Amino acid sequence: MNKLSEKIVKESVFKIGSVLSVEGRTIRIRVNKNKNHSHIIYKGNIAKNVSVGSYVKIVKGFIEIIGKVEGEFITEDKFFNKEYNREETKISRTLQVSLFGHFDDDVFRQGIKEMPLIDNECYLLDKDEFNTLHKFYKPDSKIINIGSLTEEPVQEIALSVNKLFASHIGIFGNTGSGKSNTLAKLYTELFTVYADEPKFKSNSKFVIIDFNGEYSGNEMITSNKEVCNLSTKATPEEGSKYKIAQAAIRSLDILSVLLEATEKTQKPFLDRAISNDYLDAPDTFNQRVILSVERAMKDTFKKTDKLLGVNILLELLRDINYLVTYENQNPLDSIVNSIEENLHCHSNGDYYWGSSVTTNYDNITPIYDTYLKANIDTLVFKDDELSKIKLKILLNYYHEIIKGYSNSEHIRPLIGRMFKKFRMLEKVISVVDESEENNGNRSNLTVVSLRDANIEMKKVLPLIICKHLYDKKKSEDENSKTSLHIIIDEAHNILSTESQRESETWKDYRLETFEEIIKEGRKFGTFLTIASQRPFDISSTIISQLHNYFIHRLINNNDINAIEKTVAYLDKLSFQSIPILSVGSCFVAGLALDVPIKVDIDLLPLNKQPKSETINLENAWT
Ligand SMILES: Nc1ncnc2c1ncn2[C@@H]1O[C@H](COP(=O)(O)OP(=O)(O)OP(=O)(O)O)[C@@H](O)[C@H]1O
Ligand SMILES: [Mg+2]
Repeated sequence: MNKLSEKIVKESVFKIGSVLSVEGRTIRIRVNKNKNHSHIIYKGNIAKNVSVGSYVKIVKGFIEIIGKVEGEFITEDKFFNKEYNREETKISRTLQVSLFGHFDDDVFRQGIKEMPLIDNECYLLDKDEFNTLHKFYKPDSKIINIGSLTEEPVQEIALSVNKLFASHIGIFGNTGSGKSNTLAKLYTELFTVYADEPKFKSNSKFVIIDFNGEYSGNEMITSNKEVCNLSTKATPEEGSKYKIAQAAIRSLDILSVLLEATEKTQKPFLDRAISNDYLDAPDTFNQRVILSVERAMKDTFKKTDKLLGVNILLELLRDINYLVTYENQNPLDSIVNSIEENLHCHSNGDYYWGSSVTTNYDNITPIYDTYLKANIDTLVFKDDELSKIKLKILLNYYHEIIKGYSNSEHIRPLIGRMFKKFRMLEKVISVVDESEENNGNRSNLTVVSLRDANIEMKKVLPLIICKHLYDKKKSEDENSKTSLHIIIDEAHNILSTESQRESETWKDYRLETFEEIIKEGRKFGTFLTIASQRPFDISSTIISQLHNYFIHRLINNNDINAIEKTVAYLDKLSFQSIPILSVGSCFVAGLALDVPIKVDIDLLPLNKQPKSETINLENAWT
């Protein structure tokens, strides 16, 4: 067969009909009678015929316009059969097609320049054209394979690394629909493609916030990663704490969120406490603490109400008992006991030590110098960063209430919370200085597992970590070539707009932080990947700013609406089929693709799957 006749045969096989009407972007096509089969055969190969969801090509002169079939129906035309002298009906099949792109020199481009005309011929796409349509990357760019097209499983789908990972990504779907697997698949592929690139390791940083400990397995994503198993249950060994720089913890915002400080009184107090740098000189830290304690104790007794003074003093000493080193706790206890036993007050306001026949003093200084100073001077205070902050806050508190600057009723609850919260925090983070934090030899992937952390830390830690990472990235050179990727599975845990358990300020701060990353992170090379089963709960600012979406099965109407309202990339037909997607198959839409498609994401090999399989009850119970 020569070339021309081959072309004619091909056209006659692939031609399915012609344009019936053009209304805006919607086109109707009348299908030829002989094209009503489900498949067609061409050169011994079987190809699928048109159906809802498939693509058609409309040829107008030299222009080839591409559309997607969105609906299909039959129309009945009445006509008069003269031969038999009666009216008959003719049934014809009509397709409703919406246009979305065109071929330009064999390259697919989104958007249409010209509308078709009535009677333009319509064709099925042949294999090459179908390939071109689903090739979303330039020939020489780096790509990752994610799976295959649901409707045409032979068609593999690959996405450009640059277009996908230099963007905010959202993965949504009901529980068990395959989100975690999709997330793991994307990053596993990425780390495989770049396994041998030294610059990948030095110029990028990936942090996975993993609420359920799904990603800490040895083979997950890459074997060369750092896993922080943060646990508030036992006393963990040093290695499993998250290393964070001093500046991150000393920030007023973080501290007030952590300690749930009230806006009007406690937050200004905290501000005064941490900006007071009296305790910051490293060499004299212990001396300075002791001096402050001494000053506070002596000042206590300048108060008019002497008995109150003694009480404050005892309270102070009991509080600092948390802050001396372990070996010093008993000595301090005995100081407290001896004060309780010996320090008394006459009705005229004079003090005496021991029994009332001994010397009377009108101020505390001699008593302090004779009976207490020697013991207190030997105390050694913890000087790790968290204890330093506690001491700062505590000593500032006593300073202010003794001087009468603050009211203990207002601030005391904060001090109580401080001890409780810091006790949890100490178990999960270790504060290091900037240079140690940047220690170059670490892997570029960190998995922060919060499985064993309690609910409070699950809320606060991701925020502290992300906020700090982002601030640090921002303060680095703006045109730096490095990138930061924050990956949050089960993101509704921290991005939800609904939560009764927390204060308004905390919620605002949390959402503002992540909204800032979403809105401005791109300029600073920071990208967010979130996976969630509850898109409805997540702030719509965040959802609408994502660049690429992987949408698995969603059943709840609110969730589908949340997606529908904010995701401009998907057509109606696709939205309607979101509730009937099967496990592991999802709509992929966004900047990395020219057309939204339905993809079966490849299931990872067992050792690389997130630890989240559904339990097999039959196996477990027999
Ligand atoms: N692409 C896939 N192909 C086939 N099966 C899959 C695929 N993805 C996931 N599954 C199956 O579905 C199960 C649940 O998947 P996955 O943990 O990814 O769901 P999920 O959406 O993250 O659920 P959850 O919201 O509860 O975390 C997996 O154990 C796996 O067996
Ligand atoms: Mg999951």
